[in-house]
Amino acid sequence: MAVVTLTINDRLISTQAGSTILDAAEDAGIFIPTLCHLKGLSPRGGCRLCLVEVEGSPRLSAACITQTQEGMVIRTETETLTRYRKMIIELLLAERNHVCAVCVMNGHCELQRMAAKLGVDHVRYDYLCPDLAMDASHERNVRDPNRCILCARCVRVCDEVEGAHTLDMMGRGIQTNVITGMNIPWGKTQSCTACGKCVQVCPTGAIFKKGASVAEMEKRQDFLTWILSGRDKNIWDWGN
Ligand code: FES
Repeated sequence: MAVVTLTINDRLISTQAGSTILDAAEDAGIFIPTLCHLKGLSPRGGCRLCLVEVEGSPRLSAACITQTQEGMVIRTETETLTRYRKMIIELLLAERNHVCAVCVMNGHCELQRMAAKLGVDHVRYDYLCPDLAMDASHERNVRDPNRCILCARCVRVCDEVEGAHTLDMMGRGIQTNVITGMNIPWGKTQSCTACGKCVQVCPTGAIFKKGASVAEMEKRQDFLTWILSGRDKNIWDWGN
């Protein structure tokens, strides 16, 4: 198996050829903040929180979608990166209605946790306060687009793991939204299997179990690696 050697934060690291900067950093115990990325789902490169500096490159690179190369010199913690990461979190907070005090995920939210970790204690941008309708038409789950950060984890898990493709994205730019079916109420879609995978991978309170109240929703993303490793090993293939 081919191996490449690179430097991250002055540390010499060897990693499998073809792995991303994020994989290499994680294997070496180096933390890079992420939001849209989730192990087990295809990389998206959407949130840009994982930006790193690569020596010789005129722009910042998203660690989750940039492949490692022999001799790369990477920095994951610089003043510029912290400034950009804080700005990204602030823009996310300003874009929708992230009012933690009345959110089902208060205390367990990845956006909230990341904001705290990066020291985002105020937002410098005007809040857009969009008027987005919730969808409680599903028998088990609720969608609240006001909490959505458009990471598309729900869309990817529904498509790539469950194979239902009930969820998708519609619109462009500030008009982008997650939709169910052909933009019909979730409860009316025929493809949804009510598996709940989208609930578990959503990093915020944008998708949650019906009946959950403020701060009550906790998510378990470890199910994803469990399912995927089970599939790899064919442990459910009882016929062979
Ligand atoms: Fe890399 Fe979102 S985690 S862009």
